[in-house]
Amino acid sequence: MKKVRVKSPSNIAFIKFWGKKDSSLNIPFNSSISMNLSGCYTVTSVEFDEKLREDLIKIDGKIVEGEKKDRVVRFLDIVRKKAGKKIFARVDSKNNFPSDAGIASSASAFSALSLAASKAIGLSLSEKELSILARRGSGSASRSVNDGFSEWVAGTSDKTSYSKSIAKPTFWDLRDLVTVVSNKAKKSSSTEGHSVATTSPFFATRQKNIKSRIKNLKRFLLSKNFEKFGQLLEEEAIELHVMAMTSKPAIYYWNEGTVEVMSTIRALREEGTLCYYTMDAGPNVHVICLGKDEKKIMSRLKRLKSVIKIIPNEASRGTGELK
Ligand code: PMV
Repeated sequence: MKKVRVKSPSNIAFIKFWGKKDSSLNIPFNSSISMNLSGCYTVTSVEFDEKLREDLIKIDGKIVEGEKKDRVVRFLDIVRKKAGKKIFARVDSKNNFPSDAGIASSASAFSALSLAASKAIGLSLSEKELSILARRGSGSASRSVNDGFSEWVAGTSDKTSYSKSIAKPTFWDLRDLVTVVSNKAKKSSSTEGHSVATTSPFFATRQKNIKSRIKNLKRFLLSKNFEKFGQLLEEEAIELHVMAMTSKPAIYYWNEGTVEVMSTIRALREEGTLCYYTMDAGPNVHVICLGKDEKKIMSRLKRLKSVIKIIPNEASRGTGELK
């Protein structure tokens, strides 16, 4: 059987996926919106082999065992069931960013694995079907499949919960400066966060307001109103973290570096340079700006004592096969 190699980007959520209506299928409570990242990606190759007695999973050069392996095997089981074949695979996956840098890699990893595994086993899935499959591995992976800017429509079932592209990568010269302030693996995974989301007293308020926030963010994105867009994505990031901090048990993702970067961004705005922050389930800050301001903002952030490194990103294409 043939070996298939795939490259897939990570993504940053402007509207966040937080909390699952169905945790076995990864059906979210609300729709979400993101941009694919040109500088943070995974390259995965998959080869099914009749001679193998079990799946062999290599991540960043090391054979993995335990829960990390089990998660990939469970995902490969879904692919095997779809194809009606009982055959094991050799998976080799590499991130171009250090996997211990605390940058979420599940979106790029599971979207890459979706295309590589489905194609290697002989399936030919449409973009919609790939997004549905990627969602089963990790919710946010469903958004990495499509080009540029994606919207994951929450839906209510396996067939109706998937992402589509709402704008091509070249649509807007938006940048995401991934500002790394911690190299350590985070203490609480997003899976834990999702499972306690409904225990926050702010959960009901979020559900009430989220539809209109999504509508507005999409409107500001598609009309390239950067100031309004930035204010809204920052508001959304704070809401996610307030929810995490008020869940039972509470989850704190920020560290001192997170706060130092956030105040620097506010200071830059006061000086007239438009830029905004958002954070996923970790301490690192995604600084969103326009291409014309990237250099200036980078040089300011580099001087901060808590900044370890900065990874600049443009909007990128989605999951694709490497020939
Ligand atoms: O895809 P997951 O289960 O790792 O969840 C992602 C959660 C956030 O990154 C915080 C938000 C998002 O929509 O990407």
